[in-house]
Amino acid sequence: MERILVTGGAGYIGGTAVAQLLAEGYEVTVLDDLSMGHADAVPATARFIEGSILDAAKVCEALDGASAVIHFAGKSLVGESVEKPDLYMHVNVDGTEVLLSEMKAAGVNRIVFSSSAATYGEPKSVPILESDATAPTNPYGASKLGVDHLLTKYAKESGLGAISLRYFNVAGALKSATGWLAERHEPETHLIPNVLRSTDASPLKIFGTDWPTADGTCIRDYVHVVDLIDAHIRALNAITPATHHIINLGSGGGYSVREVIDTASKVLGRTIAAVEVDRRAGDPAVLIASIDKAGEILGWKPSHNLEQMIADTKQALDSRN
Ligand code: UFG
Repeated sequence: MERILVTGGAGYIGGTAVAQLLAEGYEVTVLDDLSMGHADAVPATARFIEGSILDAAKVCEALDGASAVIHFAGKSLVGESVEKPDLYMHVNVDGTEVLLSEMKAAGVNRIVFSSSAATYGEPKSVPILESDATAPTNPYGASKLGVDHLLTKYAKESGLGAISLRYFNVAGALKSATGWLAERHEPETHLIPNVLRSTDASPLKIFGTDWPTADGTCIRDYVHVVDLIDAHIRALNAITPATHHIINLGSGGGYSVREVIDTASKVLGRTIAAVEVDRRAGDPAVLIASIDKAGEILGWKPSHNLEQMIADTKQALDSRN
């Protein structure tokens, strides 16, 4: 079986990919600098190289024996990116340039990249198509778009086969051979983990109730991390040389913040303490993916619903307490 290099494989989404690849019989190398990831998340059966994608020697070492790369490593906090835009461009874009140049030197010519809906910015209409205009509203989205452009260039000039997967809102968790793989961010900014952590003493903050939506709260398109990783493994096998595909990953539908709270309340069998506060800077009102292209190119469609995402996120969080 072929060996896959997973950059950022000690994090929540990358770690889920590592577990699923190993379960499907792939050999795996993880390259992660542990700035956000956790060494204890890397299974003993994977080869682990601690290092940054900016370090060419480490990247070269990590590529040894690999035939393809799934590239998750990068800075991923929208708020932090506004404060440190140069850091985001450096790690995400320059880091990927190092990775691509080392891949070329090593003769590894297939890559699946973790891109984001943040590349589109405020959409003119939903569902968002991959052919829609890109106008990121923050440096995080700009850095992901910068990498997408790099991949297009490498595909054209060096024959690289690349697929960028643009994630909408990832949630849920995988129960792997070694246990639940939880989202472990501190501070946690994502809605579903925050809904689950909410208590009367520390209630969930609903960011804005005056959005132009039916109930006044923002609408997002949630996708289960297990479905998301299934799409990555399909993508590995759908790559064609000298081609760069860009593909959205979501559910094709949306839920408002209030609908997420109501669904969580049903799943948990209790009310969720929440307070209404002002809008959060930079939030678009509605983000919903068109997922037709994922169906056409990857033969993929998600199979987990919002209830399962909430239930699995809860199990994963509880397993850590
Ligand atoms: N929200 C709350 N309270 C919270 C957390 C979130 O009301 O405590 C709201 C947000 O305002 C937003 C929705 O819930 O309307 C979802 O927020 P998340 O932070 O969970 O997710 P985002 O849509 O902001 O972010 C996601 C990805 C980012 C990506 C971004 C692109 O997590 O990586 O989409 O817009 F950059």
